[in-house]
Amino acid sequence: MPAHAALLLLSCAALPAFLAIPPARLDREPPRATLRLSGELEGRLEPCGCASGQVGGLARRSYRNQQDRSYDFLVEGGDLCVDGGPLDELKLFTTLNILDDRRARYDAIGVGAGDLRLPFDVLEGYVQSFPELRFVASDLAADGEPGLPFVPFVDLAKDAHRVRIASLARATPVAEVAAARGIRLLEPTAAWQRALAGVADDALRVLLVHGSIDAARAAARELQPRPDLVVAIDATEHEPPRAPELVDGVPLVHPGIRGRFVVDVTIERGPDGPRVTDYEAIPLAGSGDRPDRFEDAEMRELVLAHRFEVRDDDTRARMAERRATATGARYTGNASCAGCHTDAFIAWQGSKHAHAWETLEKAAEDRYGWPVTHYPDCIACHTVGYGEVSGFVDPERTPELRGVGCEECHGPGSAHVDDPAAHPLGRIDQSTCRRCHDFEQSPTFDYEQRWKAIEHR
Ligand code: HEC
Ligand code: HEC
Ligand code: HEC
Ligand code: HEC
Repeated sequence: MPAHAALLLLSCAALPAFLAIPPARLDREPPRATLRLSGELEGRLEPCGCASGQVGGLARRSYRNQQDRSYDFLVEGGDLCVDGGPLDELKLFTTLNILDDRRARYDAIGVGAGDLRLPFDVLEGYVQSFPELRFVASDLAADGEPGLPFVPFVDLAKDAHRVRIASLARATPVAEVAAARGIRLLEPTAAWQRALAGVADDALRVLLVHGSIDAARAAARELQPRPDLVVAIDATEHEPPRAPELVDGVPLVHPGIRGRFVVDVTIERGPDGPRVTDYEAIPLAGSGDRPDRFEDAEMRELVLAHRFEVRDDDTRARMAERRATATGARYTGNASCAGCHTDAFIAWQGSKHAHAWETLEKAAEDRYGWPVTHYPDCIACHTVGYGEVSGFVDPERTPELRGVGCEECHGPGSAHVDDPAAHPLGRIDQSTCRRCHDFEQSPTFDYEQRWKAIEHR
């Protein structure tokens, strides 16, 4: 309890009842609010399950938000998806359905560069189909009609406490859309002025900043009047900090990436400025033997329905061959390497990489209960060249590209196969491995040791 509150109580007890403190006095307690923050979901509706003990997932978040209501407001930073492709369109729809859940509806949602990569009419359509959700982009302005589907700020109130939420996207939709619709990006200072229009003195000023922690620090340092809390979204750090950072007296937090945590932060503005009186970063975990424990069943069903929708919509084919290969060469399959690199081929055949597709096939039935071989995110790390021209499309059309084959690591080989000396394949190093063996899929990945297991020089 703050010291002055204790004093009030003491003097209260000492005074005759008719002199009890009038309610107006209570209004003068400092502005205070508890926000439950998240952001940078990057389309991770739930963890991939490649390693045990993974945290995150919307069904767990939803469970948490309902079971533990120690927050005043639910604030989602944005970057709900980051790729902008046909899969993201389906992901975003499911995600918004979950954030719109009447049992724990989100109070404000920031808009980030990742969200703006979606076709703008799709994004706009979604914003309009969820009228109860409010999407904030303080630094996006549009000349003329039809204007923007986002708002420059959101005001939240609970009891006597008020919060204004502003958000800097620091990005526009693709250039053609922005030009056609007259959408402009405002400088942070101008955006902040606009976001604070008519704000009540006792409202806490919370600013979400997309891009990087440094951009968020700059906003905390430079903007006037000072924000009471800055939230960095798009943070490269995997996990939220252990404690909030103070940037010239302004508290700064970030929720980490991939929706693995929610962060509860209580801010209060006293005479000396804002301070965080309570802070907790909560990992959204299941349990060792039952990963779906602590999940909301209804929301889990929505995620599952999304998986089947992705299959029925043939999103797998629509996500294939969307980009050129880096060198312009085409994928040819492992068999075309075997003749000249027999030892390497035999070594590879004995490695788990050669069976990565079968692993998906098996997992679909006995572990996941949904068609993982149709889900683009899974395919990307369990096949060759998925998403690139001449890469994996489906097991019928491109059977030679199932599994983590030679060219997934060494690059497309058509030119090299024709004339190895004239077209050497680029050197690769452990950063190639870490594309797939990252902190979630392979938390214990050690290059020296793992390379020995697949060595084939
Ligand atoms: C395109 C994604 C991808 C890349 C790149 C990749 N791996 Fe893998 N790796 C996988 C997958 C998927 C599996 C699991 C295969 C299975 O069990 O079906 C795997 C499994 C392995 C295993 C076996 C693990 C075990 O449990 O025994 C080793 C070892 C390994 N990888 C080493 C490497 C090394 C070293 C590199 C870099 C030179 C690398 N991988 C690059 C996707 C990748
Ligand atoms: C970023 C790359 C990546 C993505 C995305 C990915 N995987 Fe994996 N997966 C891996 C790697 C790497 C391994 C091997 C992990 C290890 O042994 O270190 C693996 C291993 C597995 C395994 C074997 C685990 C075991 O217990 O032996 C299964 C099953 C699997 N993945 C299924 C999936 C499914 C289903 C999806 C989609 C929801 C998926 N993966 C998405 C990289 C990925
Ligand atoms: C998981 C990634 C991965 C896969 C899959 C893979 N390699 Fe490699 N390969 C490497 C790495 C890492 C090296 C060692 C670093 C280097 O030489 O670039 C290497 C080395 C080689 C070399 C020797 C290069 C040299 O000059 O020493 C050849 C040849 C080769 N691989 C061919 C193949 C063939 C053929 C296949 C498929 C049958 C294959 N590789 C599959 C990662 C992979
Ligand atoms: C016609 C025979 C032939 C075929 C087919 C072939 N290679 Fe090679 N590969 C070579 C020769 C020869 C070298 C170069 C040796 C040198 O210059 O030291 C080489 C070198 C490499 C290297 C070392 C780095 C480099 O390019 O110099 C890798 C990796 C490699 N090949 C992978 C592959 C893969 C993957 C495939 C299948 C897509 C493949 N090769 C197909 C003959 C072949």
